[in-house]
Amino acid sequence: MTDAPRPSPNLSMDRSLGLTHRPRRNRKAEWTRRLVRENVLTADDLIWPIFVVEGENVRTEVASMPGVERLSVDQAVTAARQAAELAIPALALFPYTDPELRDPNGSEALNPENLVCRACRAIKKEVPQVGLITDVALDPYTSHGHDGVMEGETILNDESVAILVEQSLNQARAGADVIAPSDMMDGRVGAIRAALDGEGFQDVQIMAYAAKYASAFYGPFRDAIGTKAVLTGDKRTYQMDPANTDEALREVALDLEQGADMVMVKPGLPYLDIIHRVKERFAAPTFAYQVSGEYAMIMAAARNGWLDGEKAMLESLLAFKRAGANGILTYFAPKVAEMLKKSA
Ligand code: PBG
Repeated sequence: MTDAPRPSPNLSMDRSLGLTHRPRRNRKAEWTRRLVRENVLTADDLIWPIFVVEGENVRTEVASMPGVERLSVDQAVTAARQAAELAIPALALFPYTDPELRDPNGSEALNPENLVCRACRAIKKEVPQVGLITDVALDPYTSHGHDGVMEGETILNDESVAILVEQSLNQARAGADVIAPSDMMDGRVGAIRAALDGEGFQDVQIMAYAAKYASAFYGPFRDAIGTKAVLTGDKRTYQMDPANTDEALREVALDLEQGADMVMVKPGLPYLDIIHRVKERFAAPTFAYQVSGEYAMIMAAARNGWLDGEKAMLESLLAFKRAGANGILTYFAPKVAEMLKKSA
């Protein structure tokens, strides 16, 4: 070390760069930042996924999804009331099926008295203005945890579609507004559309999980619906390879041709490029699913004090809007809607 004085910058000299363009001018105060803002997140962008469980007055925490609970049907009605108060347009329902009711063919999916159907009827009776989206796939109901039926190790496509069509009709009869096939079988959207129309459900919409990837980010969801322990193998023969982009466009094209009213990309944040390309190419109502693992990552970091959880939540949701999504399925829905309401 020497004793020489440390150099310090002289800020009194004129160092003007003579710039014509100073992008910072538009950012100088909150009022101008608001004026030039290109995207906004509102409650209208939100779909709230909830987990339904057997019982009365039951709320059980999902360990890997802090702040998310499985709700008995009466509590699901309470959640629907909350959604209405917070101006959240729609709920997406997922059941935790009693393990004893699971079998290789997912028969419980066709039971008009299954949890999802009972929840639909109860919510439609009490809070009819909230949209109800029901998931079509057999995984909550199969003893092997796959979305379709199997022969040996193979997930059968056309045989699975026949059951998924029945499942869709079962949900539509219970009052579902939107049928959301998440199974990734080929040809299911067209088959479901035809069956719905055949029973007079012309106005029941289809939101296709069009580009759904075989992702590690679904882990906590499989805890929530109780399929993690039973799932044999993985879903790579039907869900998409994370390496592919063009294939997502072909999947979306097929689902739109077959009558999908809305398409979805899933997971969300790691697949913003897909959302953007889908929106640019097809200009159709495009949704993103910020999945359970994305939620868990933000919550876990926030709980450790490693991130500001609320800011990370808002920034992640805004990113979907910027990418071109019309709306987002997110477990943050009630929390973010509450914040947006307070700041309005
Ligand atoms: C079931 C289904 C899954 C999700 C939605 N519907 C899981 C899977 O395909 O294994 C994941 C949602 C989430 O992780 O939040 N077909």
